[in-house]
Amino acid sequence: MGKGIETGARAMFNSKFAAIATTVGSAVGLGNIWRFPYEAGVHGGGAFIFCYLVFSFLIGVPCLVAEFAMGRSTRKNVLGAYQYLSSSKRQPWYIAGYFALLGAVLILGFYSVVAGWTIEYMTGSVESMFSGGLDEAELEEQFINLTNGWRPLVWTTIFCLCNYLILVRGVTKGIEKMSNILMPVLFLLLLIFLINSTMMDGFMDGVKFMFNPDFSAITPSVMLGALGQAFFSLSLGVGCMITYASYFSENTRLTRTAVTTMLLDSSVAILSGLIIFPAVFTYGMSAEAGPTLVFEVLPTIFSRMAGGTIWSLLFFTLLFVASVTSTVSISEIIIAYLTENRKMSRVKATTVCCAITYVLAIVCTLSLGPGKNLTIAGMSIFDLFDYIASNILMPLGGMICSFFVGWVMDKKLLRQQLSEGSRHNIWVTPLVFMLKYICPTAIFLIFLDSTGII
Ligand code: PHE
Repeated sequence: MGKGIETGARAMFNSKFAAIATTVGSAVGLGNIWRFPYEAGVHGGGAFIFCYLVFSFLIGVPCLVAEFAMGRSTRKNVLGAYQYLSSSKRQPWYIAGYFALLGAVLILGFYSVVAGWTIEYMTGSVESMFSGGLDEAELEEQFINLTNGWRPLVWTTIFCLCNYLILVRGVTKGIEKMSNILMPVLFLLLLIFLINSTMMDGFMDGVKFMFNPDFSAITPSVMLGALGQAFFSLSLGVGCMITYASYFSENTRLTRTAVTTMLLDSSVAILSGLIIFPAVFTYGMSAEAGPTLVFEVLPTIFSRMAGGTIWSLLFFTLLFVASVTSTVSISEIIIAYLTENRKMSRVKATTVCCAITYVLAIVCTLSLGPGKNLTIAGMSIFDLFDYIASNILMPLGGMICSFFVGWVMDKKLLRQQLSEGSRHNIWVTPLVFMLKYICPTAIFLIFLDSTGII
C-alpha cells in the first residue's frame, strides 16, 4: 500500500492496485447496498435501473476520468485544483470547489446516520434479534424502535468517532489494508446471498422488476434520480476523485481505473438489488419503502436463513467497513482542503472536519426521530441533505467539472494525463468529445427537465 495520505506532505499510492483499491473503496458503500435498492424501488425498478446503468457508463466514466485528470495533474485538493488549472484565465472557477466542499459536508451528515444503523444492526445480530422467523410487522416495528428515539444518537456518535480515529491516524495505515481484504469478502457474501435469493418464490418477479423496463415510465424525476444515484455511487461531483487522484502515481492508467471502478461499483449495486427485490416480492413487502427498505428486508431474509445470526453479523460488519472506506474518502476532500489551503495540521484539520460532520449528523439523526415533524419542502432534514447533495450539487458539480476539463483545462496537459504512460490511448478523442459536448449538455438538460423549466 502507498506511503500514506497521513503525513500532510503529498504522499502517493505506489501501486496501481492501491489506486484501484482506494477508488473502489470510496465508490462501493452504502450508496450501492442501501441507496440503490431504495431509489430503484421508489422509482419503479427497471426504468430507473436502465437509466442508472446508461448514465454510469456514458456520463460517469468520462466524469471519473475528468476528476482523475484534474487531481493527478495538479496534485491538489478540489479547491486548489480548480484554482491552479484556471489561474491563467482570471475566471472564478474556484467557486465550484466551494460547492464541492459543501456537498461533501452534507453527505457526511446523513451518511453517518445510516452508517450508525449498520452498527446497531451488527450488535442486534449478536443479540440474535433477527433470528427465529420474526414476521414483517415485527421487523418493521423493530426498525422503527431502533431508529426513532434517542438510541441512534449513540450509534451515530460511535460511527463518527471511528471515522475520526481512522482519519487522524492516517488513511493508509490500517483501513486500506483492511478494506483490500474485506471488500472482496463482501462481494463473496453478496454472491452467497444471491444464491439464497434464487431459491425464493419471488426470484423471477424480482428479476422482472429490475430488468424489464417500462420505457414509458422514464420520467424527468426518474432520470434525475438515476443520474444522482450514478454520481453518488461513483463518488463524483464533490471532488472526491480529484482528491484521491492527487495521490495516484504517474503510471496509473486513468481510463482503465475509471472503467474498472464503474464496473465493480455497478455490479455491487445490481447484486444488492437481486438480493433485495426477490425478498420483497416473496414476503409481500413494499418496494417503495424508501430509506428504510434494506434495513427491513435484509433482517427478514436473515431471520429465515439457517445460521441467520452469523450471516447478519457478517453482513452488517462488512457493510460497516464499506461505509467507513467511503466516509474516509469524503472526509479526505475536506481535510486535504484544510491542510493545503488553510495550512492546518492533519490533526487539527481532521478535528475540524469531524466536528462539523458530527453536528450535522446529530441534526440528521434527530430529524428522523424526535424532530420528525420539522419538514422543509415536504422532506425531513435527512432527506433534504441527501436531495441537495445527490440531486443538485453532485450532478451540477459533475457538469462543471466535465465542462472545465473539456474546455478550460490546458489541452496538452489533459492529453498527457489521458495517454496511458507511453501507450497510445484510443479513447482520448472520444473521451474529450464526451467531456466537451455530451456530458455537460446531458446533465444540464436532465436537470432543467426535472425542474420543469423545459
Ligand atoms: N460512493 C459512496 C457510496 O456509494 C458515497 C460517496 C459519495 C463517497 C461521494 C465519496 C463521495 O456509498
